[in-house]
Amino acid sequence: MASLWTDGRTETPSRPDEVADVRSADVVVVGAGITGLTTALLLARAGKKVVVVEARHVGACATGNTTGKVSVLQGSKLSNIAAKHDTSTLRAYVTGNTEGRDWLLRYCDEHGVSVQREDDHAYAQTGKGISSAQQILAACREADLDALWVDEADVPFPFAGGVRLRDQAQIDPMPYLSSVVTEFERHGGTLLQGVRATAVSGSGPVNLTLRMTTEPQDTRDQQFTITAQQCVLATGIPLLDRGFFFARAEPMRSYCMAFDVPGDITRSMYISVDSPSRSVRYAPTPSGDKLIVGGAGHSVGRSAHPKAAVDELARWATLHYPGAVQTHFWSAQDYHPADELPYVGSLLPKFENIMVATGFDKWGMTNGVAAALALSSRMLGGRMDWAQAFASWSPHELKGIPTALQANFEVGLYLAKGWAAPVTTPSQTPEEGQGRVSGPPWRLQATSVVDGVERTVSPVCPHLGGIVNWNDADQAWECPLHGSRFAPDGALLEGPATRGLR
Ligand SMILES: Cc1cc2nc3c(=O)[nH]c(=O)nc-3n(C[C@H](O)[C@H](O)[C@H](O)COP(=O)(O)OP(=O)(O)OC[C@H]3O[C@@H](n4cnc5c(N)ncnc54)[C@H](O)[C@@H]3O)c2cc1C
Ligand code: FES
Repeated sequence: MASLWTDGRTETPSRPDEVADVRSADVVVVGAGITGLTTALLLARAGKKVVVVEARHVGACATGNTTGKVSVLQGSKLSNIAAKHDTSTLRAYVTGNTEGRDWLLRYCDEHGVSVQREDDHAYAQTGKGISSAQQILAACREADLDALWVDEADVPFPFAGGVRLRDQAQIDPMPYLSSVVTEFERHGGTLLQGVRATAVSGSGPVNLTLRMTTEPQDTRDQQFTITAQQCVLATGIPLLDRGFFFARAEPMRSYCMAFDVPGDITRSMYISVDSPSRSVRYAPTPSGDKLIVGGAGHSVGRSAHPKAAVDELARWATLHYPGAVQTHFWSAQDYHPADELPYVGSLLPKFENIMVATGFDKWGMTNGVAAALALSSRMLGGRMDWAQAFASWSPHELKGIPTALQANFEVGLYLAKGWAAPVTTPSQTPEEGQGRVSGPPWRLQATSVVDGVERTVSPVCPHLGGIVNWNDADQAWECPLHGSRFAPDGALLEGPATRGLR
């Protein structure tokens, strides 16, 4: 299930002896997505000794499985912020994202990384969505963005009107990440891949405990430590529970497909503001332009049959682009913050030794770079005025408390339901491609069948004891509490958990 961006790429994991050689650094950045690698490059350029630790490989999670739109318009994001925050916070968010976008595009121009400059649209599919689109236009005006209303667009799918922001961009994220890694290493940085950080301790300098993830089981148990003055957790949701970010951001999974399309492909970027969500762009490839369609999003672990929505998305694409042939399918998750604003800053108030960056709400191409700019300048003794809108601890979060309470109430319900419901689930072998949790609470088991192989693991999530559910689109176990994900054999894929299912 490689994305269009990661298809055909091979990443070489670090060897245990290479990891053992790295004992100290000024800064350890955990996570080699757009946020971690951009932060690492900025710090290395400033002369810091930086080590990046990546559990899987460069771009393994959201960044290598994104849609790759580099836009400040961002669907309904600006009107959602405007509904909860004052004008100065909205403008600070837009300024940060504009700086993130411009930094990224400048970097691409200077390093020969391909970018397509295109207009972006947030549009209504039917008359019912028009008022949402108009609220987005109002938020753009409040934020001084030069957006305009369009009644019509040159697209083959239903379009009832929407907002256009000119001259945004779209990229393939992997050449960008590769270029950043090359420059990072030229500045003396070290990238360790296939190495998971499992613990971070210390109130002054920090000690990181690391474990190999790609080696055979016997070396996986081998532990390494690195000591650093500071650490940046650019891991999506932070692996540490201190700071309770897992309770302040909801993990949302969504799906993308690439198609070969006979005839014309839509040139500009589009995202619907009404349900079901549809995201559209094209992507140049050596064999011609492909159409990319995204949507079918859900809270991680909480959709009974994600595959049904994914199939429906594919039908939508072939209905409006007759003759379209699907070539790729991929998925990823990102984190929706309770107060709509990203969390970028210290893990705990007043402690500058551990930093976090999360809550980009599927808009991390600009937010991730903005986070890197804000974090690196803060760690080097400077500041960005707009960074107050991105703070990890801030009075503006009070606006998110009702949403966070509601989300955590739901977490409690899923915890109780997860332990109780399997009693009544029949324990027979699931069909091909399916998984099932069954048994009484004292003997729960999660059984799946993928490619004819039946596997049984414990369904108890090692993070905080949630009971996993099967995702039939991705063929993976997902925890409905805070979004950890596991392969059919129980291996950890992502999330706040640091171990796999037993
Ligand atoms: C389907 C989808 C489509 C999207 N489309 C767009 C779009 O069009 N435009 C846009 O702006 N944004 C988009 N986004 C959002 C954007 O892709 C993300 O916000 C962004 O990529 C996040 O980057 P990141 O570096 O913070 O996290 P990630 O790319 O997820 O990187 C985190 C890295 O940390 C590693 N890691 C995790 N835990 C550990 C650990 N304990 N030890 C070591 N390493 C660890 C992971 O393996 C991973 O590689 C989309 C998101 C999704 C899900
Ligand atoms: S991710 Fe928190 S309990 Fe599973």
